[in-house]
Amino acid sequence: MTTAASPDPAEQAVAGNPDHARIWQSPLWQSLLPLGRSDQTGGYRRFAFTPAEQACRDWFLAAAADRGLGTETDRNGNLWAWWDPADQPADGRPAEQAVAQPGSSASLLPAGPGGASSSGPGDNTGVIVTGSHLDSVPDGGAFDGPLGVVSAFAAIDLLVASGAAPVRPVGIAAFTEEEGARFGLACLGSRLLTGAVSPDAARALTDADGVTLADAMAGAGLDPASIGPDPGLVSRIMALVELHIEQGSALDGMNASVGVAGSIWPHGRWKIDFTGRADHAGTTKLADRRDPMMPYAATVLAARTVATELGALATFGKVVAEPGAANAICSSVHAWLDARAPDEETLKELVSQVTAVAELSGAGHGVMVTSRCESLTPVVEFDLDLRDRVVAALAGMGIEAPVLPTGAGHDAGVLAAGLPTAMLFVRNPSGVSHSPAEHAEPEDCEAGVVALAAVLEELACR
Ligand code: GLV
Ligand code: MN
Ligand code: MN
Repeated sequence: MTTAASPDPAEQAVAGNPDHARIWQSPLWQSLLPLGRSDQTGGYRRFAFTPAEQACRDWFLAAAADRGLGTETDRNGNLWAWWDPADQPADGRPAEQAVAQPGSSASLLPAGPGGASSSGPGDNTGVIVTGSHLDSVPDGGAFDGPLGVVSAFAAIDLLVASGAAPVRPVGIAAFTEEEGARFGLACLGSRLLTGAVSPDAARALTDADGVTLADAMAGAGLDPASIGPDPGLVSRIMALVELHIEQGSALDGMNASVGVAGSIWPHGRWKIDFTGRADHAGTTKLADRRDPMMPYAATVLAARTVATELGALATFGKVVAEPGAANAICSSVHAWLDARAPDEETLKELVSQVTAVAELSGAGHGVMVTSRCESLTPVVEFDLDLRDRVVAALAGMGIEAPVLPTGAGHDAGVLAAGLPTAMLFVRNPSGVSHSPAEHAEPEDCEAGVVALAAVLEELACR
C-alpha cells in the first residue's frame, strides 16, 4: 500500500470506530470470497443465473436476513434489501422481517420495487439506494462489484452501530449481469429496470451454449414474461450511490483512499463475424484459402493503431475460431471488439475505421464480414448536485476525495439516465482489474465503508 504523506482522514475515521469489524475479517466478506472462485486461477466465474451466481444471491439474502432487512428480487432479477425507518424500533436497530423469496411478487417495502400502493413513512420522500453487482467477468477479481455490495451492508452496520436512523428507506441493490459475461449485454439488470433495452430483445439474448435469457431466468425460478422497465421504482429513487474498486491507479498516484466519479467514457462492444471456408492445413495452397483468421488478425492490429491515433481504447479479449482444429483452416472466426473513447464522435470513428479494415481485409481473402453492436453506453456525466453533496459529506468527515473520470462501465452509469447517481471509488494500488490480481488494501476498503456511511447518512438520515 502506498504511504500517504500525512495520515489519511478516512483511515483515521476507521481507527475511530473500533467497534466496526474490519471488513476483510468479517463473516460478510469471508463467506462471499469462496463462492464461484476457480481453484485453477483464483479468479471468479460468477455468471448470471448459474449455480455460482445463485450462491452469491443466497449470500445476499442471508446477509440481509442477518440484519433484519426486508428483501426481494425484482422482475428483472435484481436483488434488493431494505433498511426502512418503518421497521425501526426505538433502539434504532432494524426489526426482524420475513424475507421474500426470489421471484416473489410481494413487496416488503410500503412502496418498494414494483409497489404502486403505499402507506408508509417512505411515502413522498423517496428512497436512497446503494450497492453494485455480484456477477463477474471470466476469471474476474474479488472486488469488482462485490466490494460495493459488501460495503453497503457494512456501511449500514456502521450507521446502526452509531445510532443513526434513516428518515427514508435505504436500499441495497445487486444488479443482474452487470458484466454481460453470459448474455453479452453489459448492465442488463439496470438496463431492463430503466427501459434502456426492450424486454423482447433481452429475452432473446443467448449465451455461448445457445441458452436464452428467458430460459436461464425461468431455470432460476424467475418469470421472464414479466421483465421490463419499472418506472415506479425508478421514480422513487432519490439518489443511487455505487461504491466500486477503482479500475486504474489514479487514486494511488494522489495518495487518496477514496475518490468520487466525475464521468464515464462512452463505450460498447461489437461482435464481428468472419466467415471463410474450412479446409486442410497441409494440402490447401495459400493462394486458394479463404481463411477468416487473416482478416481477423489484420483487424486486431488495426484496432490498436486506430485507437492509438484517436486517443481511445480498443480491445479484442474474446475470440472463437470454428471448428477449432490445429490442422484445419477455420470456417469462421467470431471476435468481440470492446471500444471506449473520451467522446461519442471519437468512439463512432474508432468503430467505423476498425470495421472498415475488417471488411476490406475480408474482401481480400474471400471472407465475409458482418458486425453487430451488442452493447452501447453513451457518455455519462454524473449528477453535479449529487456529486457536490457527496464530496461535501466526505469533506465534512475530513476526507478529501478527488473527482475522477473512468473508462469502466457501471450500473450507476446506466441508471444516471433516469435518476441522480454518484460513485465512490476505492484505491486499487496496481490498477489491475478484470483479473484475479485485482486488489484493494483492507484499510482502503474500510475507508470506503466509512465514506459510504457518511454519504448515506447525509442522504438518508437528514
Ligand atoms: C465493466 O466492468 C466494464 O466492462 O467496463
Ligand atoms: Mn467489471
Ligand atoms: Mn463492476
